[in-house]
Amino acid sequence: MSILQDFIKTGDWKGEKHVPVITCADTFKAGEVTDVTLSIGDAISHPNTAEHYIAWFKLFFVAEGSKNVVELGDVHFDSHGEANLFTEPKAVFSVKLPSSGKLVALSYCNLHGLWENVKEVTAE
Ligand SMILES: [Fe+2]
Repeated sequence: MSILQDFIKTGDWKGEKHVPVITCADTFKAGEVTDVTLSIGDAISHPNTAEHYIAWFKLFFVAEGSKNVVELGDVHFDSHGEANLFTEPKAVFSVKLPSSGKLVALSYCNLHGLWENVKEVTAE
């Protein structure tokens, strides 16, 4: 039994500021580069301060019919006001996907934990 599954929250990003927004084409050509953008706060902004911030994103892919999840990448956001520097939680992953499947994004807020979003994509 997984412990983490009890702590990964989700919701509609339009109403919950912690849910990562997955922006990409709904359909793509298998094996060709396509861009997947992850962001936070597209509808409701999330704080970016030394006390409260989004620390990282991870992006996974689950191919249609597969029982395995594959990590595509991760990105850390390390500046939250120190010396008046800020890294905003937004990143573009350029990926080649072999088939239809599900893009799964995780975000981590230092105060509010893990948040997930899923987007189904279709290979042409
Ligand atoms: Fe938060």
